[in-house]
Amino acid sequence: STPSSSPPPSSSPAPASHLIGRKEDIVKAGRLIKTVNGCREILVLYHQGTLHAMDLRCYHAGGPLQHGDIEEFNGRLCIVCPWHKYKITLAEGEGLYQAVDDPTVKPLRTHWRSKGVKQRIHKVTEVKGSVYVTLNDCSEAIESDVYQTERYRTGSIQA
Ligand code: FES
Repeated sequence: STPSSSPPPSSSPAPASHLIGRKEDIVKAGRLIKTVNGCREILVLYHQGTLHAMDLRCYHAGGPLQHGDIEEFNGRLCIVCPWHKYKITLAEGEGLYQAVDDPTVKPLRTHWRSKGVKQRIHKVTEVKGSVYVTLNDCSEAIESDVYQTERYRTGSIQA
């Protein structure tokens, strides 16, 4: 049995957090790819004062989100996948698209709609200048999970 240890100091992040790096370095770089937990490849990015983390590959067909532009649609910040321009909200991982109100009415009028959460977003915490990511362990499948298998990994990770 393990002897009981003293609780971690309050400045420590939760045990499931993974150290990503120094905030100042991430801010300078803007974007960073990190393999967390030995297997999950995530994109950490800094935009307009906020750090975000999400699965690296786009839920649609595995596009490299690290090369996506960040734009606002319907008041929501999105990363735009460089492959087929799918828009993914930074905060929730929702897929946004423009729906046509009524195809019989010309000119066509569109509005933004959400397909729901498609990209797995992870939690970012900052403690004393260090940035940590806690993987989103929601047990429901999220479409971007498909591209987290060994087949799609960029690095060569041994078991
Ligand atoms: Fe991202 Fe198609 S792979 S939009």
